[in-house]
Amino acid sequence: MAQKPTAPAVRARKVSTGSQPLVMVTAYDAPGARIADEAGVDIILVGDSLAMVVLGYEDTLQVTTADMAHHVAAVARAKPRPLIVGDLPWMSYHVSVEDTVRNAAHLIRAGASAVKLEGGAKRVPMVEAIVSAEMPVMGHIGLTPQSIHAMGGFKVQGRQADGARTLVEDALALEQAGCFSIVLEGVPDAVARMVTDAVTVPTIGIGAGRHCDGQVMVFHDLLGLQDQLVPKFVRRYATLKSDSVAAMAAYADDVRNGAFPSEDESYHLTDEVAALLGLYGGGTKTA
Ligand code: KIV
Repeated sequence: MAQKPTAPAVRARKVSTGSQPLVMVTAYDAPGARIADEAGVDIILVGDSLAMVVLGYEDTLQVTTADMAHHVAAVARAKPRPLIVGDLPWMSYHVSVEDTVRNAAHLIRAGASAVKLEGGAKRVPMVEAIVSAEMPVMGHIGLTPQSIHAMGGFKVQGRQADGARTLVEDALALEQAGCFSIVLEGVPDAVARMVTDAVTVPTIGIGAGRHCDGQVMVFHDLLGLQDQLVPKFVRRYATLKSDSVAAMAAYADDVRNGAFPSEDESYHLTDEVAALLGLYGGGTKTA
């Protein structure tokens, strides 16, 4: 995608019609957005994974629309080329259609060009309302983390025939309601293939195998910025947590043994001013 990606441009990206797979990553702040931009990804998702990977909560249920807008705005201030998608948090699209549209607009005003929400056919009225208010919507089905209590934990979905068929029906309902793409999370690869073949909008997988129209990874997982939990579907492309610990420990050593800061890393008075102040015993330092 050479020019800035838009929701309609993303909607056209089916691998089955010859498109390259879409690349989506999460980011939550301006430096993260710049990294994603310079790496050439297509879509930045300001995901509600924010709750777990940045804010230290144990699940995604703790973040609010205001939290999400705060981080969408930080990403948007970097003016990255990728499409910015803001994640609607739990309870921001569950109460009423009016509330849903207002919360989606909050994220758009913060700088997102589209919003994402979790759930299948039961979300159709909300998707239709947001779309008719001119805001593109990305769907998200399968293992939907906001349903952690209803699902009984973070569990792969669609392992049985009924569940697999429901996922296809959910995807078709979301497509019909106007979603421009659908995230498939935590489903068997064959089920992701069934869904991907059934819809004309691109599917973007995470823990859904290779038969999707794109992939998404969480920033901190991809870069190894956190090492507590490594789900099966995560491939680490860097080890920034251990590299950062090593770098910070080296800094601590240098401070403690006097090796930091050096003369070159310090500002100096001119000889003249030093002499006036009676410093340096003869004034050998220069600015
Ligand atoms: O919040 C998030 O990071 C997500 C992705 C895992 C798709 O929803």
